[in-house]
Amino acid sequence: MPEPQAVLGGLTESAVFLVVSASGVPGSRARLLDVASSVNDLVRAVGFRQAAAGLTCVVGLGSSFWDAVRPPGAPRPEGLHPFRAVHGAVHDAPSTPGDVLFHVRADRADLTFELTRQLMAALGDAVRVEDHVTGFRYFDSRDLLGFVDGTENPTGRAAVGAAIIPDGPFAGGSHVVVQKYVHDLAAWGALPVEAQERVIGRTKLDDVELPDDVQPPDSHVSLNTIVEEDGTERDVLRDNMAFGDPAAGVLGTYYIAYAADVGVVERMLDRMFVGSPPGRYDRILDVSTPLTGTSFFVPSLDLLESLAADAPDALDAADPGPPPADATPPPAAAPTASPATAPA
Ligand code: HEM
Repeated sequence: MPEPQAVLGGLTESAVFLVVSASGVPGSRARLLDVASSVNDLVRAVGFRQAAAGLTCVVGLGSSFWDAVRPPGAPRPEGLHPFRAVHGAVHDAPSTPGDVLFHVRADRADLTFELTRQLMAALGDAVRVEDHVTGFRYFDSRDLLGFVDGTENPTGRAAVGAAIIPDGPFAGGSHVVVQKYVHDLAAWGALPVEAQERVIGRTKLDDVELPDDVQPPDSHVSLNTIVEEDGTERDVLRDNMAFGDPAAGVLGTYYIAYAADVGVVERMLDRMFVGSPPGRYDRILDVSTPLTGTSFFVPSLDLLESLAADAPDALDAADPGPPPADATPPPAAAPTASPATAPA
């Protein structure tokens, strides 16, 4: 199997989630592809000086960007399409634009900062920043709702099975879905801890899953447990991080999930927002509002590094024009919400 990008890297102390689109200036797509395709040169230059901090950067390519840059005659990855907005009776998950995701991770915030700085310098006016979030580890990997987040992530071979496309022309690749959620912590804090535990499906202090006889069918854990008819459980690999700006009242969770089959993430989103059965939606959404929602294909390392050289000849002249009109705008701001592009 071709070598995957650093998808399986796991949670770090610090992360940056940078979503950009080609700006439309002449040659912008070619420059964006060049920088994305050679990102590991920058990762080495920044990361080698503090190797123990484990700097990595995963690159994801959005659906229309893939169509523009794919080598002539290359197929489309199965399941690659713009993030599908989800409309529940009470809560919606919007779809927001993005040509390229840079998911930067390290155990030191200076390294994630420095790589992002160098990336932005290399990209220059070729990109429009759609969203830029700096996430951090909060105590023992808790989200800002106060619960440990990431416990049931698959590990080892199960993580590879959940996140990496095993065969076909895109073997070693992956899909990644991101959503930036902001929390209403005043409303959440007004719930007794036992009620919060029933929303999540685990205990708060010691992070133990609630026993079957008290686990609500609409807890976050229940709704996100996908079991096929043959009993197989379907997993994704999550790398959520806390982020925030307390002075601005912005407190959130950046959701990011890698999946070999993006349909698994989409089924989870349907179950959370529409509910299972419809109407019994995830109560986490009463206090958490997604401001963004974007899907990307993550090529294997080999494919990523060959893309710039194999790009169509016309790419340099191509101008992507304005952002697609069908992208759903972010919903009206919740009390603690910021615009999608607010520094966080
Ligand atoms: C589990 C928090 C959004 C999928 C959990 C857990 C927490 C949590 C605390 C329990 C510990 C763990 O196993 O990680 C959050 C927060 C979110 C969020 C604060 C955003 C506000 C999402 C979304 C999805 C998702 C959007 C999927 C589309 C899952 C899955 C599990 C999980 C698959 C593991 C379930 C299990 O097998 O036990 N999440 N989550 N989460 N979450 Fe989320």
